[in-house]
Amino acid sequence: MIRVSAPHITNDDIRAVVEVLRSGTLAFGRVGEEFEKELARYLGVKHAVAVANGTVALYLSMKALGVGPGDEVVVPDFTFFATASTVFHTGAVPVLVDIELDTYSIDVERLEEAVSDRTRAVVPVHLYGHPADMDSVLGIARERNLYVVEDCAQALGAEFRGRKVGSLGHAAAFSFYPTKSITTGEGGAVATDMDSAADLVRLLRNHGQRSRYYHVELGWNMRMSNIEAALGLSQLRRVEEMNERRRKLARIYLEELSALPQLRLPVEKSWAKHVYNLFTIRVEGEGVRDKLAEFLRRNNVETAIHYPTPLHRQPALANAKKARNCCEASEKASKHVLSLPLHPGLREEDVIHVSKLVKNFLRGGSSL
Ligand SMILES: Cc1ncc(COP(=O)(O)O)c(C=O)c1O
Repeated sequence: MIRVSAPHITNDDIRAVVEVLRSGTLAFGRVGEEFEKELARYLGVKHAVAVANGTVALYLSMKALGVGPGDEVVVPDFTFFATASTVFHTGAVPVLVDIELDTYSIDVERLEEAVSDRTRAVVPVHLYGHPADMDSVLGIARERNLYVVEDCAQALGAEFRGRKVGSLGHAAAFSFYPTKSITTGEGGAVATDMDSAADLVRLLRNHGQRSRYYHVELGWNMRMSNIEAALGLSQLRRVEEMNERRRKLARIYLEELSALPQLRLPVEKSWAKHVYNLFTIRVEGEGVRDKLAEFLRRNNVETAIHYPTPLHRQPALANAKKARNCCEASEKASKHVLSLPLHPGLREEDVIHVSKLVKNFLRGGSSL
């Protein structure tokens, strides 16, 4: 089976983890701090705070900026569940806004309409590894006095006008789940230039302990371990190389699939560096996407749908607010998107093989 995503683990990664296991210091410590320092340096931010996963990184980013009951937070309708569920966890209410169909990021015109007197923050998601239109998002945020929390879970290394995503807003959340640009197994981080926000994230991830067994905030245990951080540190040394590999494989797909009128291929805006955490195409035609996925599965090619149900139709988010004019584009995306295999360990011939299967299917050369 050609897998849709897979972690890329080297002997150096394994050695780094084993070294921590042998050291006896398994909980967050010096290795964790080194990972934070290197991550902050890579992103060009003052602080990176390692946490247990990307979900809590989102939650803590918002908490650290003071988001809470009575507030609204604008999020795109088409993203992973956690972008909106974490807003509810802070006590605020998510307001769901439609997306742009070329980048799959928040529709900035609709964003402007969704801002109310209660809006405290906006969460642009750099979905699939392509940055959101941050000039517009930051412009609106400045005008309306909003915090910007970037959801960078899928976009470590992506750039907006030459700057790394995660360094553009007030705070940013990263995920190091095994399908992401780098992995720590489970893990995440908050990036910020704000000393006060970084301090609060550090407190809240560790039961609000200002000093040992002295608690000034009602936090949780949301810490990363040294074992995870060792893997992250080792992976971070290769992030550029792994992202370049993804970009190279994506270029092959783009060339191979360019002549198929039924497909909408990923775009890379002039201001963007796409890191292709996912290579997600849109397959036009009623039900064609699902038939293509089934055809590929029978030919030992795994695909995935990111995401089959937009947030406004998620039962757990029934109390979210839907912005005006939401969510035609998001509905369309959920019916037609399909992620093809792309990860650094994939061979070029695999990409050509998958492309051939897609071409055969769409040109009617193969039927189910
Ligand atoms: C866009 C987005 N936001 C947030 C998350 C949450 O990250 P994690 O799975 O590490 O909790 C993910 C990861 O799946 C994601 O893709």
